[in-house]
Amino acid sequence: MKFITVVGARPNFVKIAPLVKYLPDNIIVHTGQHYDYNMSKVFFEGMDIPEPTYNLNVGSGTHTEQTSTIMSLFEPICVKEKPDIVIVVGDVNSTLACSLVVSKMDNVKLAHIESGERSFDRSMPEEINRVITDHISDYLFCSTKDAMYNLLHEGISNDKIYHVGNIVIDNIVKYKDIIDNTIKPSPQHTLFTLHRPFNTDNREQLKNILQCINELENANILFPIHPRTRAKIDKYGLQEHTSNMKVIEPLNYLEFITSLKNAKCMITDSGGIQVESAYFGVPCITLRDNTEHIFTLKSGVNVLVGSDIEKIQSEFYKSIKIKKRIYDSLWDGKVSERIKEILINV
Ligand code: UD1
Repeated sequence: MKFITVVGARPNFVKIAPLVKYLPDNIIVHTGQHYDYNMSKVFFEGMDIPEPTYNLNVGSGTHTEQTSTIMSLFEPICVKEKPDIVIVVGDVNSTLACSLVVSKMDNVKLAHIESGERSFDRSMPEEINRVITDHISDYLFCSTKDAMYNLLHEGISNDKIYHVGNIVIDNIVKYKDIIDNTIKPSPQHTLFTLHRPFNTDNREQLKNILQCINELENANILFPIHPRTRAKIDKYGLQEHTSNMKVIEPLNYLEFITSLKNAKCMITDSGGIQVESAYFGVPCITLRDNTEHIFTLKSGVNVLVGSDIEKIQSEFYKSIKIKKRIYDSLWDGKVSERIKEILINV
């Protein structure tokens, strides 16, 4: 059985890392959506992911440019390589583009990992990518029961849906000893990431968020910065609002996850980081009005604050006093094995 695994952007790399070693005959196609060394190659090197067989080098562009270029370049690869199953992960433009190509090919099945996540906000490109990918997939691998129910509610057949657990936790289990034994210097820091266009692409919004976080008392902010956000801060001249923060280049996987585990608080607008925070019980303040990881809200380990400055402040001072945890029996490091068994045997 021959597989193609598709990746394009940073969150994809951590999702395929634990899986590809289990796939006997697999080639990796990298769309090149993310291309900076520390947004891409550093993950292949640090997480022992084999070199991609193909890199489409699509680069940055509008959603339509990225999606359509990936489609045109991916189709001939599929025709030539004749995979039995193409695996896509998450919700980025590369996921949608390659899924659309596969859905119109004979004899190629589509498997989607992290299926069924919904923010119910169709103004987010990721939500469109998730919904369409799910509706054209043959194997839908869900991280949570909530995700399964979302798919069933949308009329997707139960026969295609598998509750396997969250694959990114496989990495944390694999690297547990390294993560646990990395001593972090005190005082404890607050980890901060920001990259969503709705937070970065409007000057006032970006200024308000940065100003608020910059002024949090005793926060000790560590800010690994996404290239999009750095460019916007420079463009809008907002550097002064990061004066109390330690602004650094994007971190590699182990650096990031160790920094998260040792943080007193996480402030982010990312999706996957909310789950990793929940796993460690690190309070997470999410700079969004909704989340596709609804279960993280249940015990209060994650709170949605949008861009409400007062809420950011109050939740920050509140959150660092309490540790809340969520337990999921499928956070056992065996998600990739379950997926492999299903793909090979079903
Ligand atoms: C993409 C995903 C988003 C995911 C995020 C993780 C979509 C629609 N968005 O958003 O869901 O959370 O990745 O980072 O697929 N850039 C660089 N170097 C890079 C990559 C990006 O400089 O290696 C800059 C470019 O200016 C680019 C901008 O960042 O225009 C945005 O990159 P893009 O891939 O379009 O989207 P992300 O914001 O990274």
